[in-house]
Amino acid sequence: MQMDIPISQIKPSYPPPLIPTQEAPAIQSTINALNLLPHPEGGYFSETDRDPRRIPNPHQPITSVTDTGADPETRSASSTIHYLLTPQRPLGVFHRNQSRTVHIWQRGRGRYVIIHADEVGGQNHMRGCSSENATARIETFVVGPGVEAGERMQWVVEGGKYKASFLLPDESEGETSSGLLISEVVVPGFEFTDHDFLRKSKMEELLTEEQVQDLSWMLKI
Ligand code: GUN
Repeated sequence: MQMDIPISQIKPSYPPPLIPTQEAPAIQSTINALNLLPHPEGGYFSETDRDPRRIPNPHQPITSVTDTGADPETRSASSTIHYLLTPQRPLGVFHRNQSRTVHIWQRGRGRYVIIHADEVGGQNHMRGCSSENATARIETFVVGPGVEAGERMQWVVEGGKYKASFLLPDESEGETSSGLLISEVVVPGFEFTDHDFLRKSKMEELLTEEQVQDLSWMLKI
């Protein structure tokens, strides 16, 4: 399934508060138990594993950030995080990683939006996208426990794609959420030099005006 709702219907269920306040007690105890910290993309995270083995770095540089201490020649073989979206931090803004990321659902529900920036030109008619003018294919899907309804428990985002995610209520008809908790395994392992945020100007290059209007709320402010 590539597109379960039209792009124009992708709306936040929990609009990000201008200033996040205290999380509900049940969510705060998950944050404490897993030692989660605010992530610059939104949400919370904690790195739980980093393979000590190093492999040759397969990536070309995408950012000018060089002072992160990362060895430009090698990468960790893999790294793993917990990642949590909550009503106070409900949005993971559009960003790209050079490495492939395997996502594994743990609890809650959310929606993912993927901009296939590496599939530009002529591919978007094939898979039920809403606009005929778009240049990059857009994919959206729900992650959660409802596998019979098409919700995903595992999803893979290849390197080079722009990804955003946001929190949905626990039940498709409900309002409450105890957070979307997932695991992410990044191969080769995560480095900030392999990561960048999508800017509005780049989104305008990749998508139609209408699609930019529909999706720009998921850009980093
Ligand atoms: N994997 C995905 N995102 C991140 C991140 O921000 N930091 C670390 N260490 N690993 C990640």
